[in-house]
Amino acid sequence: MEVNGQAVEAEASAVSRLSRFLRDVLGLTGVKEGCCEGECGSCTVLLDGKPVNSCLMLTFQAAGHKIITVEGLGESSGLQDAFLQLGAVQCGYCTPGILMAAEGLLRASPNPLEVEIRHALAGNVCRCTGFEIIIQAVAAHAAAREVAR
Ligand code: FES
Ligand code: FES
Repeated sequence: MEVNGQAVEAEASAVSRLSRFLRDVLGLTGVKEGCCEGECGSCTVLLDGKPVNSCLMLTFQAAGHKIITVEGLGESSGLQDAFLQLGAVQCGYCTPGILMAAEGLLRASPNPLEVEIRHALAGNVCRCTGFEIIIQAVAAHAAAREVAR
């Protein structure tokens, strides 16, 4: 598989979850595990550009695919800056997953309606309940990207 632009070859057990592999084997601890049941979204990564819950994937299922974690988002994305500027990060545990879900949305739909942002982030739970500001940060960033185009 390719992870954050780097080719990765490794052996993993048949029951190894992708989230654990990314964290424990590759050291990509920006991939958070909350529920490990597909409920919280904190483990979200991009698989071939689309957001997936990495806790629900087995590592071998990612073979041959391109994975991007929050570590691979890169400063050029500017999405993190929008979150910081608007104070959309509280404890931060949910933030990597939300960033990846938002990035997946913006790749598919660069100028989303608010309802689309809400829908895209519906699978990401923030226990600090900062949802409004998170939606605003994604919308602000989408608008800034549009202007820069
Ligand atoms: S840890 Fe994957 S959805 Fe919660
Ligand atoms: S910022 Fe704390 S869980 Fe979201």
